[in-house]
Amino acid sequence: MESKESDIPKEQIFRLFDDKPTSGLSFLDFSEKPLPPPPPCREVLDSEVSKDVKYNVEPVNVGGLTLVKGRVNTQEVFALANSDLVPGKYEGGLKLWEGSLDLITALSSEIKDGRLSFSGKQVLELGCGHGLPGIFACLKGASTVHFQDFNAEVLQCLTIPNVIANIEKNSQHSASHVEGPTNIETRFFSGDWSEVDRLLSCHQPDQASGYDVILMAETVYSISALPNLFKLITKCLRNPDGVVYMAAKKYYFGVGGGSRRFLSVVEKDGVFASSLVAEVADGSSNVREVWKLHFK
Ligand SMILES: C[S@@+](CC[C@H](N)C(=O)[O-])C[C@H]1O[C@@H](n2cnc3c(N)ncnc32)[C@H](O)[C@@H]1O
Repeated sequence: MESKESDIPKEQIFRLFDDKPTSGLSFLDFSEKPLPPPPPCREVLDSEVSKDVKYNVEPVNVGGLTLVKGRVNTQEVFALANSDLVPGKYEGGLKLWEGSLDLITALSSEIKDGRLSFSGKQVLELGCGHGLPGIFACLKGASTVHFQDFNAEVLQCLTIPNVIANIEKNSQHSASHVEGPTNIETRFFSGDWSEVDRLLSCHQPDQASGYDVILMAETVYSISALPNLFKLITKCLRNPDGVVYMAAKKYYFGVGGGSRRFLSVVEKDGVFASSLVAEVADGSSNVREVWKLHFK
């Protein structure tokens, strides 16, 4: 029988997450305990897809497309040799959070209303987990999509298989409404936001470097991680035309982060302007929002 996240003792796995797989309402914080150092950041290659973890696909209808997402047995992932998924080192990427779907729905509206195009763009999805928003960008014509997750295992067991499955599915059907993918560059990077910038398209002295669009869903729950996340965005977003789309709950119970808390960091810095793109109050969780940031 397939195990659920809730079958595994919370303190063994989750630093921050509620064990109710469907509510997405609250987060738990074990941060009083000293945390082990983060796993080292590195590029994870397509060839590193795990063959030891069973990957079953299921459809997800979102943003006018049917995407597919994998379902893996969490215990199999945790049992992988050399796994980093030990207490204090897992950040929730094995579950698909509602914010990812809110983000795709919002991106789809932005495209329809002529406010966004992925065509030929360089895109980064931060804290990707399943990576569905980044995959959506692939299918909408992005030229480059880089996926970042805290845990290499998430990339190996879910993100890369999801990217392959969706790109294969859409190339086979070659539907006329799908603009991509043609010669798209997809790369995968694991590691903490405090140091992963050295692997990403940042830091080049010329202003042409950086990403046109940065996507992130459900990444702003931990107050202590917000400064590093914000710093990373400022290093990686193409100046002056880059945009960030962020989906998050307005407030995460138990840990204190949320979209508004992150926006206070943004406002204090003063470099970006922000606008609310969508609000979702469907009763399934705390109010969720999608925000857009751009250089002032
Ligand atoms: C709640 S999960 C969201 C996953 C996915 N975006 C979704 O909405 O389904 C949070 C993600 O943020 C990333 N994350 C959290 N803290 C991080 C940190 N300090 N450094 C790097 N990534 C981090 C992890 O990769 C994790 O997958």
